[in-house]
Amino acid sequence: MYLKPLQSQTQPIFLPELTAKGVSLFVQREDLLHPNISGNKYRKLAYNIEEAKRLGKRQLLTFGGAYSNHILATASAGNEFGFETIGFIRGDELGLAIDKTLKSNSTLRAAKDFGMQLRFLSRSDYRMKEEALFLERLQKEFPDAYFLAEGGSNALAVQGCEAILNKDAACDVVCVAVGTGATISGIINSTEEGQQVYGFPALKGDFLASKIREYTADKDQWQLVEAYHFGGYAKTTPELIAFMNAFKAATGILLDPVYTAKMMYGVLDLVRKNHFPKGTNILAIHTGGIQGIAGVNALLTKKGQPLIEV
Ligand SMILES: Cc1ncc(COP(=O)(O)O)c(C=O)c1O
Repeated sequence: MYLKPLQSQTQPIFLPELTAKGVSLFVQREDLLHPNISGNKYRKLAYNIEEAKRLGKRQLLTFGGAYSNHILATASAGNEFGFETIGFIRGDELGLAIDKTLKSNSTLRAAKDFGMQLRFLSRSDYRMKEEALFLERLQKEFPDAYFLAEGGSNALAVQGCEAILNKDAACDVVCVAVGTGATISGIINSTEEGQQVYGFPALKGDFLASKIREYTADKDQWQLVEAYHFGGYAKTTPELIAFMNAFKAATGILLDPVYTAKMMYGVLDLVRKNHFPKGTNILAIHTGGIQGIAGVNALLTKKGQPLIEV
């Protein structure tokens, strides 16, 4: 395989609240799998790259926001495995001032450096990116392209995410951040009997459970913990940022503000509230996304609020 089914290391976490409650916590460092194809993006792309090669496609075409982890991962994978890449980016205003955009946006700058052709869409056009007519038109324009949805989620991505959970992981509960539901679905599919999966949605919305059910067939040992989205997708609060900085100081682990920080905050809050019985072994998956910190810090700078320490 081009993206080999690597196993990531797990790191034990030592915090007073864990000791006090008699609960063990390990973080699985998927974020360290690759410098640019980080975390769940590595897993999501693995079988999609194989499929694109099998189909003889020359290009990877995908969609994402201005600081998308998936855009950078796709650009990097294309560069590494011999595909041209085309990224449709939300926000035509970014394309109107491209020099300024590239100067200030490290994600798009890195994607461009990896050779990605950036195309900017107005927000209303971007909303059509899953509509059949829109995709048909694009397929005519890019007949040699392998299409990946925003976030890289599809059945092959779920299959790739089945490699996240190490079969020997002796944990009772697996915790993971949820966006589209592909990553948690792969994890659910590879759980052993007796293991529970907790998903922490990073956005508001009730479409997730049915999507996860679609991808996971017969397994039902999972639940979504909806209380930790901090206002919605890519929204943060000073409390979340302070938590990230304290967690890094205590463990050395840098979380990302969009997904993994919200999950980790939720896990430790549940521990404090005695949700887990004494003796529970928790495995929290670090799904990467560190590169997106730059975008959030740019916003926090504008608001004059404390930044994420990197
Ligand atoms: C860092 C990170 N963690 C978690 C997720 C959530 O993954 P999914 O969309 O498969 O639920 C994403 C989005 O892909 C992500 O970028």
